[in-house]
Amino acid sequence: MLRFEGKAALVTGAAHGIGRAIAERLAGEGARVALADLDLAAAEALASELGGGAQAVRCDVTDDEDVRTAIGTAVEQLGGLDVLVNNAGQGSGVPFDEGDDAHWQQQLDLNLFGAVRCTRAALPQLLRGKGNVVSIGSVNGIAAFGDIAYSTAKAGLQNLVKNLTKQYGPRGLRFNVVAPGTIRTRNWDGREDMLRHLAQRLYPLRRVGEPADIAAAVAFLASDDASWISGITLPVEGGALSGPASSWSEEDSDD
Ligand SMILES: NC(=O)c1ccc[n+]([C@@H]2O[C@H](COP(=O)([O-])OP(=O)(O)OC[C@H]3O[C@@H](n4cnc5c(N)ncnc54)[C@H](O)[C@@H]3O)[C@@H](O)[C@H]2O)c1
Repeated sequence: MLRFEGKAALVTGAAHGIGRAIAERLAGEGARVALADLDLAAAEALASELGGGAQAVRCDVTDDEDVRTAIGTAVEQLGGLDVLVNNAGQGSGVPFDEGDDAHWQQQLDLNLFGAVRCTRAALPQLLRGKGNVVSIGSVNGIAAFGDIAYSTAKAGLQNLVKNLTKQYGPRGLRFNVVAPGTIRTRNWDGREDMLRHLAQRLYPLRRVGEPADIAAAVAFLASDDASWISGITLPVEGGALSGPASSWSEEDSDD
């Protein structure tokens, strides 16, 4: 069943990693997809790979003018907009006592305001139908895993979708967050040992995630299968939030 047949979707940060997998999944389920990214060359390469009316559009989610132009262009090229996926984002790893105001502003600007800007710009178009927005948060927005400015920004998304649900749910719109655990993308390149360690120590399901794990959850929330779900944060995290490794069963806790 093609859940997105006849639908148009825009994915930010679609040129690489999780965003790329989301774009591939939505296109694979029939959507016409706009790939909005800073890296236009990679977005264009993906658009030609996907075919089916996929369009690449240059977009910096930290620039309001850029976002409005990109969404306007995408709406024109796709002939509408039914699904927005706010995926562009990036942590920093800067320790709390080294993070000045400029650092906090940069992290909030990219990881929280980016989603605010894109949602605000897409709203008039989404309101023409029964559109929905899925934003990519993080387990960092739910529990304390460090990277505090990034985590605080991701936590903000969780309240944003609740307020937007109260305000626009009555007009047919839905807003949700998918909160990934560790996902194997280029951000982990060269850190195989760390990924193996995390798989053993943090993830009861004994592996880190793949971009396709997140794409599957996004596709569910963005589809009509989730038509009565709004304002939630769906963790997709191999069980990492279930409890510390010391509480896993003896049999499984160490190989
Ligand atoms: N990889 C993980 O372990 C992990 C875990 C939890 C959450 N996340 C979240 O998932 C999302 C995607 O992460 P990823 O690991 O796939 O990253 P990635 O670096 O592989 O891809 C990010 C994409 O976003 C684009 N981008 C960056 N800044 C942008 C901007 N200002 N405007 C538009 N596009 C921009 C990049 O060009 C790139 O195509 C992020 O929001 C990240 O915080 C990732």
